Formats: sequence, C-alpha cells, structure tokens
Amino acid sequence: MTTEAEQFERIITEVFVDSLIAATKVAGEIADLIRARNKEKKNTVLGLATGSTPLPVYRELVRQHREENLSFRNVYTFNLDEYYGLDTDHPESYHQFMWQRLFSQVDIPKGHVHLPSGTIQRSDVFQFCDGYEEKIESLGGLDYQILGIGRTGHIGFNEPGSSKDSKTRLVSLDALTRRDAARDFLGEVNVPRYAITMGVGTILQARKVVLMAWGQGKAEVVRQAVEEPPSEHLPAGLLQEHPDVRLFIDDPASDQLTRFKIPWLVGPVDWQHRTIRKAVLWLSGKVNKPILKLRDSDYNEHGLGELLTEVGPAYDLNIKVFNQTQHTISGWPGGKPDADDTNRPERAKPFPKRVLVLASEPDEDILCMGGTIHRLNNQGNQVHLAYLTSGNLAVPDGMARQILSLMSVMEGELGVKKSETFSLGQVAEVLLEELQSSDEDSGDLKSIRQVKSLLRRNEVWNASASLKTDRKNLHFLDLPFYEKGRYRAFHPEKEDLGKLVSLFREIEPHQIYFTGGLVDPVSVSGVSFGLFKQAIQAISKDKWVKDTHFWSYRGIAQEWPLFEIDMAVPLSPDELNLKIDASFQYHSQRQQFPLCDAAYKEIWQQIDELNRDTAKAYDSLGMAEYEAIEAFKRFKLEKLI
Ligand code: F6R
Repeated sequence: MTTEAEQFERIITEVFVDSLIAATKVAGEIADLIRARNKEKKNTVLGLATGSTPLPVYRELVRQHREENLSFRNVYTFNLDEYYGLDTDHPESYHQFMWQRLFSQVDIPKGHVHLPSGTIQRSDVFQFCDGYEEKIESLGGLDYQILGIGRTGHIGFNEPGSSKDSKTRLVSLDALTRRDAARDFLGEVNVPRYAITMGVGTILQARKVVLMAWGQGKAEVVRQAVEEPPSEHLPAGLLQEHPDVRLFIDDPASDQLTRFKIPWLVGPVDWQHRTIRKAVLWLSGKVNKPILKLRDSDYNEHGLGELLTEVGPAYDLNIKVFNQTQHTISGWPGGKPDADDTNRPERAKPFPKRVLVLASEPDEDILCMGGTIHRLNNQGNQVHLAYLTSGNLAVPDGMARQILSLMSVMEGELGVKKSETFSLGQVAEVLLEELQSSDEDSGDLKSIRQVKSLLRRNEVWNASASLKTDRKNLHFLDLPFYEKGRYRAFHPEKEDLGKLVSLFREIEPHQIYFTGGLVDPVSVSGVSFGLFKQAIQAISKDKWVKDTHFWSYRGIAQEWPLFEIDMAVPLSPDELNLKIDASFQYHSQRQQFPLCDAAYKEIWQQIDELNRDTAKAYDSLGMAEYEAIEAFKRFKLEKLI
C-alpha cells in the first residue's frame, strides 16, 4: 500500500540511509531465494548487472557463500549486457568484471554462466541474440533480475528510444553513457560504441525486478523513472508496467523525489528549522518574488497554509528566513578578526586560522572553491591543500607523450650542454618507449604513472600559486589505494587511513573543507570520503578537534540547494576570473574530458555558470547582487562519525 508521502511514485521505492544496507538487503533476498530453491531441488535463474551499483551485492553474496554455506551449484545466470568488440579478457569487459567479482569466488558451474558475447561476427549477432532469449526461456525465465540505472535512464544498455517490447540485440551507446564510461577506459576514445544488451521486453519478463541507484548523480533520473508517466524516452520508466518491481536507493539518490523535495505537497510536515527555510526559499522561487514580498496568499495557494498556521503570519516568517539567509553570506570564510561574530557563519577567533582543504583528485578543490581559497590566503590564514590521490589514472597518454617527446629533444634543440651522468633526453626517450609499449588495456607501467602524477602536480603548482597558496602547504598524499587500484576496484587499507590521520595531526586545522558525501561510494571521490570519515573517527577524541569546523563543498557539477547553504562566499568579478584562469591550468583534464557534443560544457564553463547561478539565486531572494558565490554546508563532528 502506498503511503501519503509516496503518492507521486509509480514504482515502489525504498530509501536507505546508506547503499551498503540496501545492497545487503538485495543480496539477502537473492540468497533466500537460492536457498529455498536449493531445498526444493530446483534451479534459480538470476539476471545480473555490472557497473558500480551491484558491487556491494556481489560482495555480500560471496561472503554468504564463504561464511554461510550459500551454494550456487543450482544457479544459472544471465548478464544484461556486454560491450561489442571487446575481448573477454579485456579488463573492462563485463566477462572479466563478473568472473572477478562473483563467479570465480563462488561454486557456480562454468556452464551455468551466460553473458552476451562481445566478439561474435557481426553476421552472427542476430542469431546469437535470439539464442540468448531462447536459453533464458528454456531454463524457465528469469526469477530475479537486478538492475542499475544510467544517467540517460538506460537499463541494461537500452538507451532512450528502446521500446518496451525490445529483445536482446546489438545497440549503439548514447554519448552520455560513453562519457560516463570514459574514466573506466582511461579516455573516451577507448570506450566501445556498441553493445549487446537484453531488451526492455526481456527484462520485463523477469518474475521479480529490483533496480538500485546510489549517489546524487542518479537523483534526477530516478525521479523521472519513478514519477513521470512511462515513456520510451526513459527506458527505466517502462519498469512501471512490471507487476513486481522495486527500487532500492540511498538518501542522496532520493533527494529529487517529491516526497523529499517538496514534502508539503504530499502530506503533513514536521516543521523543523531547515524545513521551514526550505519551504520559504522554495516558495520564493516558485512565485518568483523576493522573500520579503511573499504574502499570506502565496503561502496558502501553494500548499503552505499549514506552515502559516504553525509559525506565521507571512511577515514574521519572511523576516526570520530572510535574516537567516542573509547571515549565511560572508566575505570572511576564515572568520573576521575582531568583529562581532554572533551572526556570522564562521567564528572570529582564533585568527588567523589553520585551514585544511581536502580534494580527492588534484583539481577538485580549486574548481569548486578556488575563490574561497584565494580569500582565505589573502586574509592571512594558513591554507593547506591536500590531494588524497595522485589522479594519474585520468591523464591521457597523448599528454604524457607530448611532454616526454618535448623533453627528449630539448637538450639538442636548445643546445644545452649534456651532463656526463645524466641526460634529460635519454631519460625521456626511455620513458617514451615504455609508454609506447605499455598495453592500453592493462594500464600503465609505474614509471609512466609517475610521469602522469607529476603532470597533475605541475598543474596544481601553477593553479594554486595564482591563488596565493604557499607551495610548502601543498600535500600530495598519493594514497596507495589509488596507485594499486583501478576505477571501481579500489580497496582502501590501513596505510591509506594512516596517511590521512597523520596529516590531520600534523596540521591540527581550525577548519577542514571536504567533499564527496553524496557521490557513488565506489568512485574516487566516494572512496576518499569514506576514508575521510574513518580518519575523523580516529581523531575524534583529540583535544584540538573540538575547535575544528567542518565545511563541505558540494562538487563540480552541483551546488548545495539554497536551504542547505550555511556559508555563501561572494566572489568579485576579478576573483571569479582568477579562479577560471586557474582552472585553465588543468590541461590534462581538458584533454581527458573534451566537449563531446554541443550540449556539454567545458569544466571552466560549468563552474563559472554554477557560481554565477548561485549569486543570481541569492539576488532573486532579495539579497545583495553579487557576481558569483561559492557555497558551503557546515557539518558538526557528531554528524561525521
Ligand atoms: C550494466 C548495465 C548498466 C548499468 C548502468 C549504471 O550491466 O547494464 O545499465 O547498470 O549504466 O552503471 P553504474 O552502476 O556503474 O552507475
């Protein structure tokens, strides 16, 4: 039965505080099904997915196999899809993925495993796909199908336009899907253009379907799939026609659902401080009026009559929220010395402050809060920038080649006298050969990764210098989880945690800026955030931490919604320019993620727009009009541990 809050939802949607809990529940259901079938001496037929989303499900199934005797002897599996044109032993092939993550770790007979083939001849594809469907049918159909969802709304590789009757077939991948896979393939050019996928019709025939989604990046597409009428434009929405489908999502993936985004439209609301602010700021946007011009009638006509009854009238409510919002604006992110700080987001003392800005990769900090970093520096604070990973996986080979080939001819061209023991050109030539011989599939040799790390460091040296950060305050942690791992296969260990804890204790910061709490937990940023939380836990009893404020920046693609902003740092036109100029230093990232069609923006355009839009949003609320704003949300220590 749907509750009042869920009335806008056309698919049963369960929201979990954390993806691990949700995934454990899915794994538990699958395990129960297998056990029940095993008892009846029957087979279980599973439909499986790859990608980041199902990883914790497979981890839990493997655990249950090892520790709780869950047997896969009578299990048959059919994977949703495979890239067309990739050998089965390519590290990004779904064959590799499934064997590494699940099949090789449980007792499933090899012959029970089915994946579409990425290597069959084009002329055999139709027959192969037909055979795949027949095989599923001959085993009695899929009992339980798990799914992830792509940002295009795809399930399997059924991109927008796929019909609800579609069957297993060869498809071409959407530009956004290829862009999302660019990191895995170490560059968009390496991402295959085609795939073989089960059809939407194949998926709809499974007896039970569970779709999972983690992280803020999926929130909008989840809302569309759950709340909009089914349409071929969004294949995941076609699941609404299935009689036994459920969505399991985590908190960040749920935040665009009407019951969370605009709860007063769906039912009674517990009017807490943040919800009140959320409602008033939403109303101001909805009726396009500054806060102080909102009338009782505006509240009443937009489902907020109850709020007026509890904390109205409009005049009082408006002033209260106006003042709160006004007080989030501060040009002194490190606190203003000798000022009354009663209504300022950051305290005046101590001054100057030791500030630590954390970034998972060497660009995130400046792209998201370069203006604030500049201010903190200018106002006399001691600013440290720390990069958890080297970011070398995201440097295209072409860029390393360019630098090395320049180095290899430099001595000769410039007529530099060669030293007897050391020749820059020789070193570069050896590295160039190594780069040439390194197999694109298996990743780079250590020396090449070092070159790429250096390239990213060099970008940071240049970008941060223009924002006045002292070079000795740059910390490149090069955490081992990243150096040893691959995208979606990072396993942080004690050593990673130790490095972060030591950094905290070395600096004892008064402010820590961080990010990553709302992203997919297996991404670089998600893994880094997990480590950050563990490190905070480890130091939470240290005396100095009591005096530390934790500020979160949201990320490159999104800003905090207005009601969540605790500190809004206005940037002057010059400061915004300075930040944009600094962002041009990240050449490797501009090469790695170029524009791939007219709808995409370059990184600098994205951040420029984001900061300007935040300023415009403040302006429309009736606040002062600034050129740009960077925003932060404050977290109390207790919320982080
Ligand atoms: C994978 C698949 C895709 C993914 C989707 C989400 O077999 O069929 O539909 O489920 O692209 O990918 P992740 O989980 O990596 O976000």
